[in-house]
Amino acid sequence: RSEDKVTIHFINRDGLKMTVKATPGDSLLDVVIDQNLDLDGFGACEGTLACSTCHLIFEEEVFKTLGPITDEEMDMLDLSYKPTDTSRLGCQICVHKSQEGMTVHVPESVADLRQPDVGTTS
Ligand code: FES
Repeated sequence: RSEDKVTIHFINRDGLKMTVKATPGDSLLDVVIDQNLDLDGFGACEGTLACSTCHLIFEEEVFKTLGPITDEEMDMLDLSYKPTDTSRLGCQICVHKSQEGMTVHVPESVADLRQPDVGTTS
C-alpha cells in the first residue's frame, strides 16, 4: 500500500540526493538494500551490530524522535567514522511515519572494523 510509505531522502557521499519510499517498520538498512542505494560498504554486518558502516547522520528534529540507543549501538557508533551528535546506526533505526520527508546524510567514509582497509587509501 503505497499510501503508507514514508518518503526519505538520503544524501550520499557525493552530496547527491536519493529519494526513496520506505515501508514503516523496516530498518534504514533494509531500506538501503531494498532500494538498491549505491552506498559502498554500507551495512557490512547485515544489522548484527558488528560494524559501523550503517552510520547515518540525522537532522536534529528527527534525531530527537528516534528510540533510545542501546549500549551495544553506542559502543559501535563510537568506533564509526567521525560520529556526530545526531549520528545513529541505520540498522537500528526503524522507519516511522513521523519521519516523512526527513533527510539523512551518509557519512563520507566508513570504518568497517572487520575490514580495516575499507574507506582508507592504502
Ligand atoms: Fe553493521 Fe549496522 S549494519 S552495525
